Amino acid sequence: MAAQPAGTAPAKSGLWAWINKRLPVSEFIEEQLTGYYAPKNFNIWYFFGSLALLVLVLQLVTGIFLTMFYKVGEATSFDSVEYIMREVRFGWLIRYLHSSGASAFFIVVYLHMFRALLYGSYKKPRELLWLFGMLVYLALMAEAFMGYVLPWGNMSFWGAQVIVNLFGTIPGIGPGLVEWIRGDYGIADATLNRFFALHVVALPLGLLLLVALHLVALRRTGSNNPDGIEIKEKLGADGKPLDGIPFHPYYTVKDVVGVGVFFVLFAIVVFFVPTFGGLFLEGPNFEPANPLSTPEHIAPVWYFTPFYAILRAVPNQRMGALLMLLAVVSFLFLPWLDRSPVKSMRYRGPLSRIALTLFAIAFVALGYLGLQPAEGLYVILARIFAVIYFAYFWLMPWYSKIDSVKPVPERVVYHAH
Ligand code: HEM
Repeated sequence: MAAQPAGTAPAKSGLWAWINKRLPVSEFIEEQLTGYYAPKNFNIWYFFGSLALLVLVLQLVTGIFLTMFYKVGEATSFDSVEYIMREVRFGWLIRYLHSSGASAFFIVVYLHMFRALLYGSYKKPRELLWLFGMLVYLALMAEAFMGYVLPWGNMSFWGAQVIVNLFGTIPGIGPGLVEWIRGDYGIADATLNRFFALHVVALPLGLLLLVALHLVALRRTGSNNPDGIEIKEKLGADGKPLDGIPFHPYYTVKDVVGVGVFFVLFAIVVFFVPTFGGLFLEGPNFEPANPLSTPEHIAPVWYFTPFYAILRAVPNQRMGALLMLLAVVSFLFLPWLDRSPVKSMRYRGPLSRIALTLFAIAFVALGYLGLQPAEGLYVILARIFAVIYFAYFWLMPWYSKIDSVKPVPERVVYHAH
């Protein structure tokens, strides 16, 4: 029998044909995987999109199992988590997969975002893809914050107290808004219950929808690549991009390698260092919520600390809250702040390179400072790094325009290994 060329008509008989007559599975594979051409020069930075998808699924699955045993309520939440850890068979594993999964999610997403800064992936024509990504990021922050409140440990309680009170700095409506969010005069049972509803139903649904939109937008423009060259502009006689290769099997196989490495590292954390020295699960959260005992230092989990450091670097609370908000939303404007004629850092000059390096250092430094007490040298350093952080964004229209650029090659540069 003659071999059937890849990606052609589906079999005419059998179960596969039966399904395909009723559901366009073959067409989907042909259009979205074997027939979808991605740039041939993806490097390791391109692992993190598929890893983010993997962690999303992991969080949804482990979350469903946790919800089977978790009992929401001021009087029951903490004990039900202890019950999961001690009595439920493999409950400790499911819980640690979920709690470490939250940190893994942010590590993967931060690296995924950094790749976009490195290769100018937010630039035209990918502005909407970037904006959907940012909405995913905002939804993820809300999801992680509310999830952290659910075990009703002492840091859950006091963290919620600090973050919800930030809404009180909004002029006029602030105090009323805080009460409305809490559903009580303090962080209480009503707050815990609504955070649970949002964490297990509303936000996961929103996240899934936003990720779907993110991927649809990606499919429309196609991926960028480390050279920042649009491969759709150089087509071969067959109408396919000359610098593209079919997503399946080439990138599905490559992504499996990324998944393998990820699982090894993730397993080390889950089995040997699940609290990660208090970074992934903080010490005070192993004690039940106690409105009469404030933890020595109230600090959020590491993925929020860069923004928390900015909040505390400013003496005026209202100003601090505003700057913290600005620090997050500044990313939204990147497609319009960047005036460079080239996308990738490979072809940009020293100004853009220095700016991105300083930004990365400032982000990590702020992350560290957000974990330290807000006093003395720590506050001064936080102010310095906050200025560098904002300079990256708001001086970009200037430095990206005057920076020198190298000539961008016609075709993607690829050296076979
Ligand atoms: C649940 C979270 C997310 C998932 C599942 C996800 C998924 C993906 C996937 C599968 C890709 C294609 C593969 C790749 O380029 O690595 C991608 C590309 C991209 N994502 Fe995300 N993403 C997420 C969050 C974000 C966030 C927070 C941002 C930025 C704010 C973002 C910005 C981008 C950009 C700019 C691209 C295109 C990159 C390029 O082609 O160079 N994504 N995303």
